[in-house]
Parts: sequence; C-alpha cells; structure tokens
Amino acid sequence: MRLVIFSTRSYDQDFLSRAAVAAGGRHELRFLPARLEVATAAAAADADAVCVFVNDDLGADVLQALQQHGVRLVLLRCAGFNNVDLEAAAQLGIAVGRVPEYSPHAVAEHSAALVLMLNRHLHRAYARTREGNFALEGLLGFDLHGRTVGIVGTGRIGACFARVMSGFGCRVLAFDPQINPECEQIGVRYVELAELLAASDIVSLHCPLTPQTHHLIDAAALATMKHGAMLINTGRGALIDTRAVIGALKSGQLGSLGIDVYEEEGDLFFRDLSDHVMHDDVFARLLTFPNVVVTGHQAFFTADALTAIAQTTLANLDAFADTGRPLHPVSTERLA
Ligand code: NAI
Repeated sequence: MRLVIFSTRSYDQDFLSRAAVAAGGRHELRFLPARLEVATAAAAADADAVCVFVNDDLGADVLQALQQHGVRLVLLRCAGFNNVDLEAAAQLGIAVGRVPEYSPHAVAEHSAALVLMLNRHLHRAYARTREGNFALEGLLGFDLHGRTVGIVGTGRIGACFARVMSGFGCRVLAFDPQINPECEQIGVRYVELAELLAASDIVSLHCPLTPQTHHLIDAAALATMKHGAMLINTGRGALIDTRAVIGALKSGQLGSLGIDVYEEEGDLFFRDLSDHVMHDDVFARLLTFPNVVVTGHQAFFTADALTAIAQTTLANLDAFADTGRPLHPVSTERLA
C-alpha cells in the first residue's frame, strides 16, 4: 500500500523505515515534514493511507479532502485521537487506526522526572552550578515520601505512574470513572475529583482529552487545590485552562507546574524556533516562571516507545491491506 507520512522528523523516518523493512517491505512509504491540514492534504494524492501525529488536523474538511484523493485509512502514530473527527471519518468510509499502547513507562517516567525536577529545582541547579554558583537559596524541596499524589485517569499510563510514585512512598489517590483493580491492589484509593484536588500535594493528569475533560483544571478547580500544590500535565494541553493556571501561579495558589503538552502546541512544538520571536504571549508568560518546567511533548520519546510505535503502525497497515480493518481501530463506539 502507499502510505504518506505527515509531520515527519528524522526519528520518525529512522524507526518507520526500519519497521517497514522488518515487516517485509511490502508497502511504499513517503515521508513529508509538513503538518497535515487542508492546505497540505493534496500531498496525499494517490495514497491509500496517511500516517499522522498528535498535532495533525483531521477535522471533517481535511478528511473530506483526503477521501477525494483516494485515502481510505488514517494511521495515528500515537495513542490519543482527540484530533480526529471520528464521526466524519465514519461517514466518509475512512478507517482510523492508532497505537493504543507503546510504552506507558515512557510517559509515566517522564511525569516522575517533572515531579523530581520541580521539587528539587534541578532546572535551576543545573544552570547555577555551570555558572559557578553553588548557593542553595531557592532550591529547597520536600520529601516525596509520605506526600499525597492525586492521579486523574488510571489507565495504562496513570497506573504505571501510580506504581512509580508508590515506590517513593507516596500516598496515592485516584479519580477515574473506571476503577483499575491493579491500582487498588497496590493501595491506590479511589475518590471523587473534588477530594483528590483538595487533598493532593501533587496532581498529575493522565486522562484523555474529551469534551468532558476539556479544561478539567480551570480557575474553580485550581481554587480548591491545596495551596502551593504541584500540577503535572503530560496528557493533553487542553486538560488545563492555561490562563487560569497562570493566575494561580501568580497568586501562589499553585506552587509549581510541569507540562509536556500545551493547548496551542500545534504552532510551537516539534521544531526549533530559537531564532524566532514568540507570538504566543500566554506561552511566553509561562516560560518566565521559575517554578514552571515545560517540555515539548517529549514524554513518549524513548527508543523503546518509537520502536513499538513503528511496529504497531506497520501492523495496522498490514492488517488493513489484508482485511480492510486496521489491527487497532478507533471507531465512533469509543466515544459512547
Ligand atoms: P488509557 O485509555 O489507557 O487510560 C485513560 C484513562 O482515563 C482510562 O482509565 C479512562 O477511564 C480515564 N478517564 C476517561 N475520562 C476520564 C475523566 N473524565 N476523568 C478521569 N479519568 C478519565 O490511556 P493511556 O494510554 O493511559 O493515555 C492517557 C493519555 O495520555 C492519552 O489519552 C494521551 O492523551 C496522553 N498521552 C500523552 C503522551 C505524551 O507524550 N505526552 C503519550 C501518550 C499518551
């Protein structure tokens, strides 16, 4: 099959090319650096399938353009599918496949890295010691042991993060409409969101972005959190209302923030903008806080995860070629 891969970076090409060869070289892969959007959809002309990432646009108009070019399959090389209009895809007869699980460890470990970095101010310590400044003022942390961590969403990644934080001796609370027995077995206590927010020293978000979870952490939620708590978001940017978070950081209600995702990251992440003027004033403000650490959607970025993503993407394509269905389909039933 002919597969056009949008938003390609060097690592995508490396891992996907290797997986394609290992899978028998039966498909033709074409790599494009451009993001998929209405203006670039024509690049998929004559392709059977497109492969996309988290910030590609798969709204109804883009899907329609793809269908007109003969595309029958969209392969997400990620777990989240909030950027796809699944209803429109179903109506247009375009199948959608994803990589439901590649390495929950990669994302959970990165979330823990953000917790440790913020708590022990490693970002500041690193810069200071390189300048010959070995003063400790401003670097005071707290013991994680005995602290309360609240996890919103205890699926694959949230459960893994619960195990990691339990290992530090934290008390772990969770909110998820679906209880994960694995979490209960290690002592995680399920509570309502309001109790979790009020009781947690660290709140970490691991639920999908849906209409129900959009701005889950807004001004009202922030006001109910423990004064000075830490907020970690490696889920999706729009789980938090960034403007409200900036207000809470300014007042001190929020003690620190670690994010790997941002509401408007589509125009920023996965490229080098160091020679450009920043146009996003909200994001620019976030970067000025000493108690904020931002990473550019890199939580998934381990060799193990990229290998698994590439293999599953090729397996999805193989299955579609053989049966007309990707191995891991995303369908509108999932929205119910
Ligand atoms: P999963 O599907 O295994 O788990 C999601 C959990 O969230 C489920 O247990 C579900 O019941 C729960 N949930 C749904 N609605 C909820 C709500 N309103 N409140 C609380 N919990 C709710 O997904 P997985 O693999 O754990 O991934 C979670 C999210 O992490 C993905 O949807 C994706 O957005 C994000 N992600 C971020 C990555 C990164 O590189 N930063 C990489 C991979 C995923």
